[in-house]
Amino acid sequence: MRVPGVLGGDQKAATMRVLRVWDFPTRIMHWLLVGAIGFCWYTGETGDLEYHHYSGYVALWVVLMRVWWGFVGSSTAKFANFVRGPQTVFKYVRTLHLRNTPATLGHNALGAISVLALLAAVAGVGVTGLFAVDMDVLYSGPLSMYVDFKEGRWFARWHSTLFDVLLIVIALHLLAVSFYYAYKRQNLVASMITGKRKAPEVSGSELEVAPVWRLLVGAAIVSGIIYVIDTGFFY
Ligand code: HEM
Ligand code: HEM
Repeated sequence: MRVPGVLGGDQKAATMRVLRVWDFPTRIMHWLLVGAIGFCWYTGETGDLEYHHYSGYVALWVVLMRVWWGFVGSSTAKFANFVRGPQTVFKYVRTLHLRNTPATLGHNALGAISVLALLAAVAGVGVTGLFAVDMDVLYSGPLSMYVDFKEGRWFARWHSTLFDVLLIVIALHLLAVSFYYAYKRQNLVASMITGKRKAPEVSGSELEVAPVWRLLVGAAIVSGIIYVIDTGFFY
């Protein structure tokens, strides 16, 4: 059966070869986000809020950069190339139990949902953090001056609740990656590290890498946004 968004219709006839799947920026952003969330978790729980703010900014920076890259980045990073409608997702879900489905060049239809859920959850935690009022008010978020104490504590509670939601989404993410490894024999983690994946040769399936200047323009804009947020819009 031909699954949309999946490499190759006639898999057996195709020659296996190593294909580039993820460009360098997408991989760096992923592992930077993992590090930032880990650090946010640690500093959030230990109350080391000065460093917590910095790691929170890094997480927000990555999310904004990833959104930018989702519009102007390399082919497998572009939302338009992997976000699919419910019908395609459903069709893909029905093939999940098949052990030998071919590897996707980028995200599969179901993986796309987890990408969006992960980015949305991190954004939700990050934005509520910006308005959160810390109990002793020393290290409240940079935009907490726009809300009163009660509202700021409301944001802090949502910050904590959305973090729990994020942990659940991350757990599902790791379960999915493990499922592909154990059941489907596809090592997605290795691809996220090396950027490469073994797949059948199919014309037109090469990764199209976006020019670096687009990344630099995005980095400049996003860094500017984070800087302005950090000042609390005060100059
Ligand atoms: C996006 C990544 C972030 C994660 C994963 C994260 C996670 C956490 C966690 C786990 C806590 C402890 C919550 C609790 O005690 O129940 C916390 C507290 C806090 N975070 Fe974040 N945070 C993030 C971003 C931010 C940002 C960007 C800011 C502001 C610049 C921020 C400001 C705060 C503040 C002020 C608290 C203390 C709230 C209180 O005292 O109740 N966080 N965060
Ligand atoms: C803080 C925890 C994590 C977050 C927030 C997170 C988030 C994400 C996001 C947003 C993507 C989409 C990549 C893109 O298109 O830019 C992704 C993909 C991926 N992540 Fe994570 N991730 C986390 C932890 C991990 C860990 C610990 C692993 C490895 C054990 C991992 C393995 C992967 C793999 C293999 C993919 C590619 C999936 C595919 O081939 O479709 N992630 N992750």
